[in-house]
Amino acid sequence: MLNFTFYNPAKIYFGAGQEAKVGEYVAQYSKKILLHYGGGSIKKNGIYQKVADSLRKSGVAFVELGGAQPNPRLSLVRKGIQLCKEHGLNFILAVGGGSVIDSAKGIAVGVCEQEDIWDYYMGGSDRITQALSIGVVLTIPATGSESSPSSVITNEENDMKRSIATPHVIPKFAVLNPEFTYTLPPYQIACGASDILSHLMERYFTQVDHVDFTDRLLEASMRTILDHGVLALEHPEDYHARAEMMWVGTVAHNGLLNTGRIGDWASHHIEHELSGIYDIAHGAGLAIVTPAWMKYVCHANMDRFVQFATRVFDVSYPMEEKESIVREGILRLEAWYQRMGLPIRLSEVGIGRDRFAEMAGKCMIGRSREGNFQKLDQEDIIKIYELAL
Ligand code: NZQ
Ligand code: ZN
Repeated sequence: MLNFTFYNPAKIYFGAGQEAKVGEYVAQYSKKILLHYGGGSIKKNGIYQKVADSLRKSGVAFVELGGAQPNPRLSLVRKGIQLCKEHGLNFILAVGGGSVIDSAKGIAVGVCEQEDIWDYYMGGSDRITQALSIGVVLTIPATGSESSPSSVITNEENDMKRSIATPHVIPKFAVLNPEFTYTLPPYQIACGASDILSHLMERYFTQVDHVDFTDRLLEASMRTILDHGVLALEHPEDYHARAEMMWVGTVAHNGLLNTGRIGDWASHHIEHELSGIYDIAHGAGLAIVTPAWMKYVCHANMDRFVQFATRVFDVSYPMEEKESIVREGILRLEAWYQRMGLPIRLSEVGIGRDRFAEMAGKCMIGRSREGNFQKLDQEDIIKIYELAL
């Protein structure tokens, strides 16, 4: 196990009805805020009304900025920065999913820092020293952005999707009411479950030895999302399935599960190039990229893949048949994605090989190698896209 520092100050208010006091929570920080949300789902399902009522009750004035899209865009971040400066707003309440939260994080940094906001996303995270405080009302269990230090933004001028990671954008609090997820379309639940599973797998596939405790936590978390993802899809108003999914989604990405180990993250970066160019949902892109990545890198540490197949997917072939065990584990993962209604090949979403070299090239910008489980170069990434066809 490696040395580590673990710090996650996001306060979580979890459960039905917790949003009633969101105004009080916000008022501890500011009485004049930016209320940021997405394409309007919160107005249709009543979440907006509940939040607005609570803010008014606590005397919190707000300026609104809706319109954050899945794969949130840089132009809206710029607009949000402008709005906050114009109206002197010093707190952002993000009501929505990862896209809204990530957009809020970009705005929070842009208001406080001097450089152009995109420069921080192009590898300048370390230069971020301050940001406005953020609160979250989460409406989709998926990215873990409600307590993560990251934000991922798409620059629509060059189709590049890039991230920052800085403790300054960890939300001060997040309200997680599983009932708020009942109105999610099945495809979004599936994409959310896929993203959560990926955050666990990215951490699980490490070359660091003696990480039994986090291995076991990760295996339990993976089994939880595999089971409850299916239940949440099949029984949309099963509170407990939604609650399990929501909590594992937060813990999957709040830093606890990568303590003492080095995660991989190649699948995420290879996927970000797909959603940056083709605007597909992040979780769907991961269902396509991850099995291809596994097939390409498994020989870098077969024992870890055997452990994954046997402990997470209950593969029980004789131990001398490592190749078969690993192959069966990957097949069972693909079968789970399919059961969730997700694509597992690029051809299913109409993507061909014409931009593979461009995506692999973009993936390598600012990086000498991609991933940690097996270090990848541009040619390796093209081969992974080929395996995903
Ligand atoms: O825009 P609205 O109208 O709100 O609709 C959204 C959107 O269309 C809808 N939705 C959300 N909650 C709903 C709902 N519809 C009905 N009822 C509800 N309760 O769902 C759609 C998807 O929302 P989005 O916020 O895009 O989903 P998600 O949370 O999966 O976020 C994806 C983004 O986060 C990034 C991804 O790359 C992607 O850009 N990620 C952020 C991370 C982070 N900051 O730590 C880590 C992740 O690995 C990921 O890369
Ligand atoms: Zn993700």
